[in-house]
Amino acid sequence: MKAHNILLLGSGGREHAIAWKLSQSPLCKALYIAPGNGGTAQFGTNLSVSIADFEALKKICLEKEITLLFPGSEEALVLGVWDYFKQDPALAHIIIAGPSKAGAQLEGSKAFSKKFMQRHAIPTASYAEFSEDNYEEGIQYIQAHSLPIVLKADGLAAGKGVVIAVTHQEALQAFEQMIKEAQFGEASKTVVIEAFLTGIELSVFALSDGQHYVLLPEAKDYKRIGEGDKGLNTGGMGAISPVPFADDNFMQKIKTAIVEPTIKGLAAEGITYQGFIFFGLINVGGEPFVIEYNCRMGDPETEVVMPRLENDLVELITAMHNGQLDQVQMNFNPKAACTVMLVSGGYPEAFEKGFEIEGLQNISDSIVFHAGTKSIEQSLVTNGGRVVAISSYGDTLKEALQRSYQSIAHIKFNQMNYRKDIGWEFE
Ligand code: AMP
Ligand code: GLY
Repeated sequence: MKAHNILLLGSGGREHAIAWKLSQSPLCKALYIAPGNGGTAQFGTNLSVSIADFEALKKICLEKEITLLFPGSEEALVLGVWDYFKQDPALAHIIIAGPSKAGAQLEGSKAFSKKFMQRHAIPTASYAEFSEDNYEEGIQYIQAHSLPIVLKADGLAAGKGVVIAVTHQEALQAFEQMIKEAQFGEASKTVVIEAFLTGIELSVFALSDGQHYVLLPEAKDYKRIGEGDKGLNTGGMGAISPVPFADDNFMQKIKTAIVEPTIKGLAAEGITYQGFIFFGLINVGGEPFVIEYNCRMGDPETEVVMPRLENDLVELITAMHNGQLDQVQMNFNPKAACTVMLVSGGYPEAFEKGFEIEGLQNISDSIVFHAGTKSIEQSLVTNGGRVVAISSYGDTLKEALQRSYQSIAHIKFNQMNYRKDIGWEFE
């Protein structure tokens, strides 16, 4: 099998975990990360380039003889990096671990993804779609709807475009802000309004070659800032894998009712999709429903999924490219894995950056994945809301969590915050 010069796009804990995994492959000749973070530089060369600047990416690909592009986040995919590369004869040979712009609409447009699920009878919350044109109807729809009610800006809104309203007044206000005041700019010109589903969430990841797929280890992330799942939503404060309630029976339902119709639906609609599909699911009384699709891996889920994935990641991407995922045998580490995110004080609201991070060199029982960090001369400083993810293995989930929390006791930075109850409902 051919070895690759790989360009990985992104700068989070997810990208550090992907870099960690890619670098273990004998098929990874050289690894570049754009822009990367203080941790990714351990496994490759960080390049200071914006992932939305396709011309700059082209220049790097030609200079470094890149043969595999791995977009870690959705940004480049939703902007159409796949189409840009495939239309350029100098770049068309490069394998891309991600979908076309049309495929990335599963994440890039909530209205598209809801219509897609409706067309293919994939279980999801009932909904309607509104814009300036049917604004008055939207008001009536909200007033007649049961509570809570969920409003979603159609486009990408940096994880902030979802409002779960518990009163009609709150829903009407959010609706007005999104449509009339363009709270999220273009992204909220269209709003999806859907029923609130009650249940427990989990994240399921498929890698699709357009026809076949493999599942990666499933995970559960902890999105709220506060213990007991209280307070504001964040990018994710921790994750666990496996998910105790995702037994064979439940996973089979997910494959049959959700994963397979999604992959078949994309193919039937002529949408090119070779890449990861992240199914954000909710278990409602034993039945899985889709909350959202993403066209990339999750963060911080990747910080537990990569440690449990035993297959060679470059081999998997090669099989994806060749349409041969049906020939791949997946192997997962049977141990439990967890990750606990250390965040800046104040996050997910305003926070300060630039504090020195101490103690990472003392960690031996956990894997440290950097998220918002930056190396300045000899020291490492905080450079984002989510700073580092501390991942550990254990024979049980409890043991994995104990290891992460023991490791965290060695780490400090000014205003460091983290949740002490990751995995709490499964203890
Ligand atoms: P999304 O950006 O679509 O993943 O939404 C963010 C979060 O809001 C999800 O992870 C859920 O926790 C919650 N959420 C979104 N839609 C629903 C829904 N229909 N019912 C219940 N919770 C939801
Ligand atoms: N952890 C959720 C996400 O990556 O979107």
